[in-house]
Amino acid sequence: MRVLVTPDYRTLSRTAAELVIKAVRAKPDLTLGLPTGSTPLGMYEEIVREYRDEHLDFSNMRTFNLDEYVGLLHDAPKSYHSYMRRHFFQHVNVSPGNINIPEGKPGVDFDAEAERYEKAIREAGGIDLLIVGIGTNGHIAFNEPGAPFDSRTRVVDLAPETILNAQRHFGNEHVPRKAITMGMGTIREARRIVLLASGAHKANAVERALRGPVSESVPASALQLHPRVIVILDETVKKN
Ligand code: GLP
Repeated sequence: MRVLVTPDYRTLSRTAAELVIKAVRAKPDLTLGLPTGSTPLGMYEEIVREYRDEHLDFSNMRTFNLDEYVGLLHDAPKSYHSYMRRHFFQHVNVSPGNINIPEGKPGVDFDAEAERYEKAIREAGGIDLLIVGIGTNGHIAFNEPGAPFDSRTRVVDLAPETILNAQRHFGNEHVPRKAITMGMGTIREARRIVLLASGAHKANAVERALRGPVSESVPASALQLHPRVIVILDETVKKN
């Protein structure tokens, strides 16, 4: 596991964006796994800037998002569909048919959807590069503490801490109690994984993920078992 400590959030974002850009340049039909949350916002900005300035071409790239809330329509402002459109897809030329986000809208048969999502990842040849964040409880995507390391895409209950953290973004709106998420098994099959973390509130989770025992009670600790992981932190998250 390589750990890069950058001086600030801007550099963290730039470093993450450069990894993605380099991977797309080397392999224009890259399969890229994408996160949401506040941490990757700067990375998306940097990728979009580079796309504009350097005429990058994303038209052959495929993307798979990590997760989506259950119960929100695509257009709901807090859905991850909206987030991805707002911060990335509306600014770049990823072909709409190459964009994959798990379906969380009401009325979906979620078992069938989970199976469909796994199959789509397999048929794309697996994920080449997967960018992830980390929750304050050590979760990755919506794999909460206790999620089996071999779990696949499925519907899960959100942990109380996750609901509490999300409430800051949802304001007066109700935070969904469930989500559909890639499993830890799905995530671990990505060929390369990049973990981003910024902010003192993540220090404890990062410490447990990187240096604590490998345990399903800290989902991100599964990354210690993966041969190609890069962790990008900024000074605010670095302990000691
Ligand atoms: C949510 C997402 C995760 C993300 C986490 C941290 O729970 N499902 O993928 O890593 O939030 O978000 P933030 O970057 O806002 O701290």
